[in-house]
Formats: sequence, C-alpha cells, structure tokens
Amino acid sequence: MTTNNDKYEILVKIAKKRGIFWPAFEIYGGVAGFYEYGPVGVLIKRRIIDEWLRQVVYGRDGLVVEVDTPIITPRIVLKASGHEDNFTDPVTECLKCGRTFRADHLIEEKLGISAEGLSLNRMAEIMRQNNIRCPVCGGELTPPKPALLLFKTEIGPYKGSPAYLRPETAQGMFVSFKNVFNSMRNKLPLGIAQVGRVGRNEISPRQGLIRLREFTIIELEFFFDPEKQEEEVNKYMDEELLDEKMNIITADMKLNNIKEPREYSALELIEKGIVKTPWMAYWMAVGNKFLRSLGIPADKIRFDEKLPEERAHYSEQTFDQEVLTEKYGWVEVAGYSYRTTYDLSRHIKYSSADLTVFRRYDKPREKEVIKIKPNSVEIRKRFANKFSEIMKALASISREELVNKIVKQGYIEVNGMRLDKELFFIKREKIKVHGEKFVPHVVEPSFGLERIFYVVLENSLKISNERTYLALTSRIAPYYVAVFPLVSGSKEEHQNIKNIAWAIYRGLLNSGLPAYYDEEGSIGRRYARADEIGIPYAVTVDYETLRNNTVTIRERDSRKQERISIKDIYDYIIDKIGFRKTWIEFLDKELNKA
Ligand code: ATP
Ligand code: GLY
Repeated sequence: MTTNNDKYEILVKIAKKRGIFWPAFEIYGGVAGFYEYGPVGVLIKRRIIDEWLRQVVYGRDGLVVEVDTPIITPRIVLKASGHEDNFTDPVTECLKCGRTFRADHLIEEKLGISAEGLSLNRMAEIMRQNNIRCPVCGGELTPPKPALLLFKTEIGPYKGSPAYLRPETAQGMFVSFKNVFNSMRNKLPLGIAQVGRVGRNEISPRQGLIRLREFTIIELEFFFDPEKQEEEVNKYMDEELLDEKMNIITADMKLNNIKEPREYSALELIEKGIVKTPWMAYWMAVGNKFLRSLGIPADKIRFDEKLPEERAHYSEQTFDQEVLTEKYGWVEVAGYSYRTTYDLSRHIKYSSADLTVFRRYDKPREKEVIKIKPNSVEIRKRFANKFSEIMKALASISREELVNKIVKQGYIEVNGMRLDKELFFIKREKIKVHGEKFVPHVVEPSFGLERIFYVVLENSLKISNERTYLALTSRIAPYYVAVFPLVSGSKEEHQNIKNIAWAIYRGLLNSGLPAYYDEEGSIGRRYARADEIGIPYAVTVDYETLRNNTVTIRERDSRKQERISIKDIYDYIIDKIGFRKTWIEFLDKELNKA
C-alpha cells in the first residue's frame, strides 16, 4: 500500500527525474523557499496560466484585460497600500539554537487550533501556558514579534532610493488603474489581471511548493460601481455560473463551531446575503469551475470565510479557496477579497492623483451650491493697507474650504487676520448636475500558481503495482501527443519508420500542437516515460505504417489503442483534447439564445 508520504516521495522523485520541479540553488546546498521549474514543469505551468487566462480573463465577455507591471516597487507605493505597516507575520526565536519560527504556525501544529490573526500578547500567553518550545532543539522561545515580509532593495547604485519587491501584483493594477481605464474606453465594470512573480520573505518556509519566498501570483482586480452592482452582475452571470455549487464555511458557521462546509450555489450566496457584493459570488463561481477544469474533484474544494481578525488589512470580506491534499491536508490556493475602495483611496491620498470615475446620472439631478464672493468694498474699508494681500490669499483658497470656514464656522483666518462672514456675499443656487465622481469598489480573486501546480500534480499522480502516471487533464499536459517510431523490419525499413515518425512530429509542432518525440529504449519504457509526465496520447509508427499509412494511437489512462490513418492524427487529437467540442457546444448554446 502507498502511504501519503510515499506518494509525496514518488512525486518529488518523478519531478526531479523528468524535469518538472526541484529545489533551487541545489549545487550550493539549496535555500529554503526557492524552487525551480524544469523543462517539463515550465510547460505544465504555462498551460495552467493559459487556461486561467482563457477561462478567467479573456473568456469573460470583455470584462477583463491584462497588464504587466514592475516587480520592483518604490517604497511610497507599499507605504500607501499599507503593506509597509501591516504585512507582517509573528516570529519567535529560539534562545538556544537561534532558529526562527512563525508563532501562529507553532501554536497550530502543537495545539491543533487556528491562531491566525491572534494578537501578539495572546499568542505569547498561549505559548507560555502550553509550554511551547523550539521544535528542533527544545530550547526556550522568545515572545512573538512582528516581522516584515517585504524584501527590501534600492533603486539606483550608491545612494539609491528605497524600494521593495512586490508581495502581490495587485498594486500594479491599482497604480495603473487610470491609464488602463482611460485606454479601455472609460467603462466599468473593468477587471485588470496580471500574472507575475512576487517576493515574500517568509519566516520559515518548510512545505515545498506551498510556502515559497518567490512565487507566481495570478490575480485580478475587478473594479465596479457599487450602485450598479446588482443590475451589472445580472447582465454577466449566466445560468451555468449562477448554478455553480460550492462548499462553503461561513464566518458565522465558524463562530458556531460548525466545521463541515455547506453546499451553496452562486445564486444562493447572493440571495442569502452570504457575500457582501454579488461580484464576490461571480468570481468564486468562476474560480470553482476553473479548479474543477484542472481535474480537482468538487468535494476536494471548499471556501473558508475568514473572521475579521484573520483578514488582510485591506479586506472587508475574504474567502480562502482551499483544496484537500494528501500531503498537507487543506491548502489555501486562492483568496477572494472585497477590497472596497481601500487601495484606490490610499493611492489618491498619497499621490494626489485623481483616481475617481465619473458616474453619469440617468437624468440630470438638481443640487444646491453655495457661491461665495469677497465683498471688496467692505474688506478695503476694514483692512485698508492689507487689502491686496488679503485678496491674493483668498484667491488661493479652494471653494470647499471657503464654504467650510465661512458658512459653517462663521469666519476665516487669512495671514493671521480674522475675516467674518459679513465680509462676503453668500448665495445659494440650484444647479443641474449630470453625474458625480466616485471611487470604484474592488473584488479580487488571487491565485497562487505554485500551489495550484502542486495540488494538480498530487491529484493527478496515479500509482499502481503496474505503473505510475500523471492523469493530467489534456489541456494542461506538457505535450498533447508523443510520437514513437518502433524498431522493426530491415535497417532501411527502420530508417523509413523513423523518417515518418519524425515528419509526423514536426508536422504536429508546425500546426501548433505541442508534441514530443522519443526513439530511445523499448516501447514499454517510452510509454512509461510519457505517462510519467502526463502526455495523454501516444502515436506509434510501425512496420504496418509502411504498408498502409496508418499508426496506432494510445490513450494514457485506459491504455486503449486504435489504428488510424496518418492524415487523421491532427483532427483526432484536436477532437480528443476537446477543442472542437467546445466550439460546437458554445456555438449551439449561444445561437439558440440569439
Ligand atoms: P498564507 O495564509 O498561506 O500565508 P496568504 O493568505 O498570505 O497565504 P494571500 O496573501 O491571499 O495568501 O496570497 C494569495 C495567494 O498566493 C494565496 O492564496 C496562495 O495561493 C498564494 N501564496 C501566498 N503565500 C505563498 C507562499 N509563501 N508560497 C506560495 N504561494 C503563496
Ligand atoms: N493580492 C492579494 C495578495 O496577494 O495578498
């Protein structure tokens, strides 16, 4: 029988042997929290990104666009975003061996309770009461302190200006929001997506690909008008999304000690008021479908609503999307946060840029405005020789401030002189306004690519007495098809077989289908190698091919073989991968609606 640990060992061994992933800087002993993708891993990773882009970004009726912004971020940006002050984890140090640990993780491991978001004092108390000591040497631990997770650097040599590596790609979308919005014809709702590397100086990364110090986030910031959210979500949410069933643990359930998730459709999440904006349910449904499409069974996916103290500083509501793994139990693979106006408002404050959007009213509305004009005759009478100084100073004060001081307070002070209300003409007027400025609200689905990569690999790895293979769904397989020439016939016939196999391989590549060629070793070995990296189909060219231009094609999971004509290989693969089916089903559905 294979245990979870054996399975993990097998996965790690295959990953290294077949070029999927391994620890980085290995020849120097490795550095915790850094991994590399090998040649096959790079392909699987790219296909997962492509699927995400297809389903979550470009397949959403034009709602989402993509950007690419810098990794190195000037300090002011992460000061404004609140990361410099809040992006910390509680760290405790062993007084004997000097190792550092995340205090909340130690408590969770030792006591089996959640310690996320507890205050430092509370954690210190729990550690003391339960005599939690260094898990490595048993030494005494210090009370937890906050440790900043941002990697620091400088822009420019010598006396550079301080900067950080971005811990999320999100700030790129907030900072560039106005440029994207303007270039995309000033329309909301608007999603801005990004796939990019981030750095987090994690305290003690110990769980392979799950907790890295440098990893890839695939996320989008979805900007919308809160006054129009119901009508707009209705426009974009089709039956299939409304009906998407998800396993949910709400914050209320957690407070009532209910640990088993309940199933809700996206529609129920909205109607029962579980989500604070219907767009949250929209993106959770999209994300659920996305993970299912990667082969993760629905019952191994759940959403865990975070309690207020467990949420990041910018979030009004957060659901973590978790996947059940054999090695690590439930693992968070994505976070869905309602960031409201938090980030844009902070950037407005720190940069003084106008990041608001204009909301046009359906019909113009009447609004009362207060107009204020200095009474120059009276002011000259009262402050004769200071008159021009006063008039100059008044001209530089904003209308809002004049109204605030003169109408509400009754006077205004200018260069140390008090000017009473009576020195101004105050007029109230009704005007027609056509709209107003507002700061858009934001919902963010944020996926950790390496965690998705890991859960997909673990879930796909099938081990039996006979063989080991990766049952990757076809679209994310590194190659769609392997081509093998058999050793058969005379030397000349064998060469012909190889020439045909090579031509098929190159033809598939040229037509855009990722293909793989292998002529070494027995056919059994070649199948085994292709199975271990999850190639769904294998074409074998043999002696019979020379006679009738047919090949065998074998399906990875069932190992069933068929004989087909060479010229049909392309169509066969396209059909099996499901591209044609997707096209026909989609068209049928949409044309029926039209
Ligand atoms: P955790 O609680 O596990 O530290 P988080 O709540 O800080 O994660 P987010 O800030 O929501 O994570 O980041 C978005 C996503 O990025 C997560 O859902 C996760 O998939 C991924 N992620 C976060 N930290 C790491 C890490 N250290 N290594 C790999 N992926 C990560
Ligand atoms: N952008 C969300 C996060 O990475 O924390």
